[in-house]
Amino acid sequence: TCRNNNDQNILIMRRIAIISVFLALLVSCAETKVQDNSISVIPEPMYCRADEGVFVIDKDTKIVVDDLSEEMQRIAGFLNEKLSKAAGFELEIVKDGPMPRENFIAFMNAGLQSESYEINVVPQHILVDYGDGAGAFYALQTLFQLLPVEIFSQELQKRVDWTVPCCNIDDKPRFKYRGMHLDVCLHYFDLEFLKKYIDIMAAHKVNRFHWHLTEDQGWRLEIKKYPLLTEKGQWRKETVVGSLSSGVYDGIPHGGYYTQEQVKELVKYAADRYVTIIPEIELPGHALAAIACYPELSCGLEDHYETATRWGIFKQVYCPKETTFEFLEDVFDEVFELFPSELIHIGGDECPKASWKACPDCQALIRKLGLKDEYELQSYFVTRMEKYINSKGRQIIGWDEILQGGLAPNAKVMSWLGEEGGIKAAQQHHEVVMSPHYKYYLDYWQADPYSEPLAMSGPTTLRTMYDYEPVPEVLTPEERKYIIGVEGCVWTEYMPVPERVEYMAWPRMCAIAETGWTINEKDWDGFTRRLEKHFGRLDGMDVAYCSAFYNPMIVFHKDTPHNMVVTMTVDAPGAEIHYTLDGSVPTADSPKYEIPFSINRSQTVTAAAYRDG
Ligand code: ACM
Ligand code: ZN
Repeated sequence: TCRNNNDQNILIMRRIAIISVFLALLVSCAETKVQDNSISVIPEPMYCRADEGVFVIDKDTKIVVDDLSEEMQRIAGFLNEKLSKAAGFELEIVKDGPMPRENFIAFMNAGLQSESYEINVVPQHILVDYGDGAGAFYALQTLFQLLPVEIFSQELQKRVDWTVPCCNIDDKPRFKYRGMHLDVCLHYFDLEFLKKYIDIMAAHKVNRFHWHLTEDQGWRLEIKKYPLLTEKGQWRKETVVGSLSSGVYDGIPHGGYYTQEQVKELVKYAADRYVTIIPEIELPGHALAAIACYPELSCGLEDHYETATRWGIFKQVYCPKETTFEFLEDVFDEVFELFPSELIHIGGDECPKASWKACPDCQALIRKLGLKDEYELQSYFVTRMEKYINSKGRQIIGWDEILQGGLAPNAKVMSWLGEEGGIKAAQQHHEVVMSPHYKYYLDYWQADPYSEPLAMSGPTTLRTMYDYEPVPEVLTPEERKYIIGVEGCVWTEYMPVPERVEYMAWPRMCAIAETGWTINEKDWDGFTRRLEKHFGRLDGMDVAYCSAFYNPMIVFHKDTPHNMVVTMTVDAPGAEIHYTLDGSVPTADSPKYEIPFSINRSQTVTAAAYRDG
């Protein structure tokens, strides 16, 4: 298939004034249309057999459902939504009875387990077996990826035949929790963007949206009983420019929040796509925006509290007194009304103990409860909130630090500091979601920091994310069952606009989605081959993904004071790296990179990836 003729993707970068790197990709295209019927699904299905021939969807094709329920009509409607945009027609939805002889796509409940499905495509029809709505929905997501990538287009595609390759697919998920996080506090994003975010997640069979709603830098959830939280707490007076310690501020107020009506709308939107929204209300730390609105929630050590204007950790945390617990219980009461999710995220990370150490009330409480220290006070705080949340029929999940001072009895752990917290929790038979920051934080660089926009840390490449195995080997087979899934985290310090979020999240989130879903062994080569076709789908969904996939990644290792060793890799399958050492633009005839080599300080490495000339 043909992308843009003579499409050139050229990126210039400079390193330490001496070494500069130039990256280029040339994609050559055939002039004639050749329809690509290869099967290339992300995340990879458990079993897939490609057969001869194709089924063609045309305007006479019928969608047959065995149940004309609102749910099955909605699912069939998603197919019609895509077809009406890209193909210019919609299909009639009929209830099974006398089956059409041919030219139909039938959805049949075959009693499969939740989220599982089977697809059988023959030239006469497509049969989909499912067990529940989620399974039917995931079958449809796979069907979209069996169709030409143009099915994802927002515009009419006149020259496409809507073929589905004949095949047999049998699929079910590896983990029940396949999550993607979004922090809307460091930067606010509107509802329209959140819907698109959920659409893209759902297309990758990601089923948990972890919505980080409260922070030091802004409170984004309307709470009717405490209107100041959004009237005032949504705002910070300005935002740090550049890295968190730059000392430079933009002087521009930043705010935004979600009304309860908007939240309900998004919860329903997500549920219709089999995504559960897990709200995060941070406690006892990362609470400065709330404290700025209601200073009585703090230990009262300062005259004035203000919503944070830079990133980081702040010592102004909730004081564990009765009025604070009343406040939090009121907040959670409204949260329970808005979010049907059984799991509620209570944060728990990065709570400095300085205020509690200096607060006479906190110290008196430690003595009264017979606690050892402020870590046990934190455990008391979390456990007390857990008791309340459990009493309303919900469960808590928190970041690793809720292990400090003892884990609350029923808490689940989101392991971000590394794997140790997750391992410890699983050994104590608490469920765990793995999102170690050096593997799954999407605010980290994905390619060479010198050529990429400012990021938090890293680099954490696509390959690093793909290769991560979330079930630690040290766990026994019994303990391994407590690893319930994975989550990619999108902290938005350096993502002030939607396009930057998408750039950082995709395609790395494709790798996390595949780990969350696919039971099969990892297959990097297969993944990169499938991903290359998948980019066409992301294009159709208008995702501003990063294409570092096509760039040589160049790493310099210090050797002697005057030399460096150069290693290079490129993700794009079949691409070769050619390079020069004199600053000139490499051609396909320039030396080909084969093994690491040494350069001196006066040389300039310029590299380009080439494929098929
Ligand atoms: C975190 O990144 N502080 C959970
Ligand atoms: Zn206190």
